[in-house]
Amino acid sequence: MRAIWITRVGGPEVLEVRDGPDPAPRAGEVRVRVRAAGLNFADIMARLGLYPDAPKLPAVVGYEAAGVVDALGPGVTAPAVGTRVLAMTRFGGQAELVCVPAAQAVPMPEGMSFEEGAALPVNYLTAYHALFRVAALRPREKVLVHMAAGGVGLAALQLCRTVEGVETFGTASAGKHAALRQQGCDHPIDYRSQDYEAEVRRLTGGRGVDIVLDPLGGKDWKKGYRLLRPAGRLVAYGFANLASGEKRDYLRLAQEMVQLPVYTPIGLMNDNRAVAGVNMGHLWGELELLAEEMTALVGLYQRGAIRPHVDATFPFARAAEAHRHIQSRRNVGKVVLVP
Ligand SMILES: NC(=O)c1ccc[n+]([C@@H]2O[C@H](COP(=O)([O-])OP(=O)(O)OC[C@H]3O[C@@H](n4cnc5c(N)ncnc54)[C@H](OP(=O)(O)O)[C@@H]3O)[C@@H](O)[C@H]2O)c1
Repeated sequence: MRAIWITRVGGPEVLEVRDGPDPAPRAGEVRVRVRAAGLNFADIMARLGLYPDAPKLPAVVGYEAAGVVDALGPGVTAPAVGTRVLAMTRFGGQAELVCVPAAQAVPMPEGMSFEEGAALPVNYLTAYHALFRVAALRPREKVLVHMAAGGVGLAALQLCRTVEGVETFGTASAGKHAALRQQGCDHPIDYRSQDYEAEVRRLTGGRGVDIVLDPLGGKDWKKGYRLLRPAGRLVAYGFANLASGEKRDYLRLAQEMVQLPVYTPIGLMNDNRAVAGVNMGHLWGELELLAEEMTALVGLYQRGAIRPHVDATFPFARAAEAHRHIQSRRNVGKVVLVP
């Protein structure tokens, strides 16, 4: 089978499509013939050598794929061979074939395309978990979403729309604001030409927001914390600020690390604020929790309340272009790789 390998730390040119033996499903696993695989910011960080959870290089990464079950391991009866599934893959998803525990292969709702299927698991589980489980979003709250036009960002905006009267603020490059409005973002903010902290304050009459979803890190976590109203919640779930170019930049890394905020329980108590973290990659053992969230998302998809927005689809052979597409900040929504 063919797969996209990150051969070593470096720019997009280190990606290679290589042929290898077909994997065989082990006990409890199904094998999925991949029709579309999601590309995530984590994969870019893995290529840059900035993702501590990534497998040792050279490696095939990929947290999600959609395809058709084509073989069952010993002891597995469902999902049956031939079932269209979306799969949560802890690496190896960017390949023609991937084996996963049967519980991580969820039958796709009717009408969902493989590209949509590959766009759902990581982006929507992250946004759903952060908004509903961790931040416990309530009607009429105000939510600031960073990287709002990215995969998780659009998922978060769509999920906010499922709760009555929620007002959303989204940071994104100016060219994406029309798309953001279409996705229900009330206040797109161009963080590149203005200080979003000042803009959010202006738009909220100085009061700030109830929830900040922040995958940027460093000084932005400080800004997000300052923007919280009493009883506000900051959810940290990424450190995209570390990725400043096609190659790892040690000076930038150092600058970002020294700007990390320090929170103390006494400070949080007196400020009436909460700071929480989300790393879906560390929830792999929580099958019940993930299944509950995935079932809710499939239900929302079937009701038409959420719809993954696939920005671009690249064949495996053009994986380097797909990485560049995200790193040059051109994507609105999900980037998908197809074998
Ligand atoms: N903790 C978790 O479990 C978890 C799970 C999924 C994702 N994440 C994190 O969530 C964030 C969003 O992921 P995603 O897959 O949704 O992202 P994505 O779709 O790849 O978003 C890319 C967009 O983010 C913006 N951006 C901001 N800073 C950037 C930078 N330094 N380099 C390149 N683009 C940058 C750009 O849009 P604009 O120019 O419009 O800003 C770009 O088009 C990432 O930090 C990721 O690591 C965390």
